[in-house]
Amino acid sequence: MDKRVQEFSDRGSLTVVSVTVPTSTPWWKKSVFYQIYPRSYSDSTNNGIGDLRGIINKIRGGYLTKLGIDAIWLSPMYPSPQEDFGYDITDFNAINPEYGTMDDFDELLEVLHANNIKIILDMVLNHTSHKHKWFKQSKTSLTNPKREWYVWKKGKGKHGKSPPNNWKAIIGGSAWEWDETTEEFYLHQFLPCQPDLNWQNSEVKKAMFNSMKFWLDKGVDGFRLDIIHTVFEDTQFRDNPRSIYLLPSHLRLDSLFQNPIFTQFLPETVDLCVDLRSLVDNYNPERVLIGEAAGGPEIISPLYGTPEKSGLNLVFDFQFANQSFSSKKFKNSILDSITHLNDFWPCYTFSNHDTVRMISRYGNSEKKARVLTLLLLTVRGTPVIYQGEEIGMHQGKIPRNKVVDPIGKWKIWGLPLGRFFGRDGCRTPFQWTNSKINAGFSSNPDVKPWLPISSNFQKINVESQEKNEYSMFNFYRELLRFRHENEWLQEGKMEFIETQSKHCLAFSRNLGPNSGMVILNFHKKPIRIINPFLNSEKVFSTDTLSHSKVLEKYITVNRYEGIIIQKKSFRD
Ligand code: GLC
Repeated sequence: MDKRVQEFSDRGSLTVVSVTVPTSTPWWKKSVFYQIYPRSYSDSTNNGIGDLRGIINKIRGGYLTKLGIDAIWLSPMYPSPQEDFGYDITDFNAINPEYGTMDDFDELLEVLHANNIKIILDMVLNHTSHKHKWFKQSKTSLTNPKREWYVWKKGKGKHGKSPPNNWKAIIGGSAWEWDETTEEFYLHQFLPCQPDLNWQNSEVKKAMFNSMKFWLDKGVDGFRLDIIHTVFEDTQFRDNPRSIYLLPSHLRLDSLFQNPIFTQFLPETVDLCVDLRSLVDNYNPERVLIGEAAGGPEIISPLYGTPEKSGLNLVFDFQFANQSFSSKKFKNSILDSITHLNDFWPCYTFSNHDTVRMISRYGNSEKKARVLTLLLLTVRGTPVIYQGEEIGMHQGKIPRNKVVDPIGKWKIWGLPLGRFFGRDGCRTPFQWTNSKINAGFSSNPDVKPWLPISSNFQKINVESQEKNEYSMFNFYRELLRFRHENEWLQEGKMEFIETQSKHCLAFSRNLGPNSGMVILNFHKKPIRIINPFLNSEKVFSTDTLSHSKVLEKYITVNRYEGIIIQKKSFRD
């Protein structure tokens, strides 16, 4: 929104001149984010586990600059017993010794900023590890001062050993865990090793805000807020209503046959988002908050606040991550977001450390992955890329005896159903080289990385792909370079364009006199459409990367190809 500045004429007459000072678009709207999962990125100590120095070395070697991303989201690097691989935290103001020291972190921050790359941290406000000193104190007695920092409740039944109500954890099973010492239940909306903090207690809020200040004062550029929708629960502990749905969708949160009205998205969540925004808005340069929450645009939109009372800057819209390869489906997802977010800015992503890798959702088809990446990097909104997507890493195949993710180990009625939901496959170590020694992730031949390296590392790795002009890696580089050079792709207005093919998704982006059009062919056959831009040229193609080709009256888009076209005059 433009700021209005009023100036008085210096001639003594009281003429009021109104000058419009254009405010520049915030950096987080224009940036491409890249998620680094530190355990799997690069192992500098040769113990089979990635670490901060490994990341620093890659940045110093110019990798992120070469790739062309603007900001990283670093998954948790705090001390943790790693029962949920970092999302179970024992100290919010320190570094996991397996990953390095605070000095390493400071160096990481410095080297990123020196390379014009921002960094946001993962902040887990909902819970701590059960090994956090707060929880250890909390469970010692009913009167311990830390008792009220968590959500404790007496059980039901004759011996009080039945859970206090019907609430289910997000990942299934009761959300309540029995504690022998004090003979009460504690709440965990995720795993039992992750007790929920009690956000009704102002001391909790103070402590967590102080932790955020600790990192903001160091200069981090913001936070990704882990499962922010579960932070509050009903204070009357009412049962959640039953539901007919097993799994949630973008339209409703019902899951495991329960409608979580008393455990998710409580009204207090919005107030918290507004307070969090006020906290980060005290900092200069501007910081960003990206929320992780379940549900589609209609459900998540309140977390953005209102134009008068700002909440989170961005909230992940996970619709892209759950879509079949169909132009109509993707178009509908985008329309849904436009309808419900209005002027708020969407945040799209295809995968992260919890999902199946994007390319593997589409039969490991690189062509399809490129079409979707072109969509992600040209649609109006902030894109987030997960490490390894830039070389087309596949979902790793993890032998049963190597599964480490607690969800992957799940057994329901004795059946190993976790196999279908396990998250190890997308967390396999990054494939840097074609070396048989751990694909360059770790250079000790005797060490076995914490998860097995995918067997396709000889083909899918940075070193080999850098040498191939048309590789996935060079496709990402070219596309990111193109996006940076063309502001209309970052900030421009977006409008869908009707073409003659139902398999085609086409839209324009316009910024002042600069504009272009993106055309994506989701079909297995080429399509021929009338060129909507006379006197135009093709400036990018997922097949041939950057090039310029003057277009005639008709445009042919190859099978599973995406192109960008621009009016010729804009380029001259
Ligand atoms: C988020 C994280 C996931 C973690 C969970 C509990 O969904 O992305 O990895 O297990 O929250 O913190």
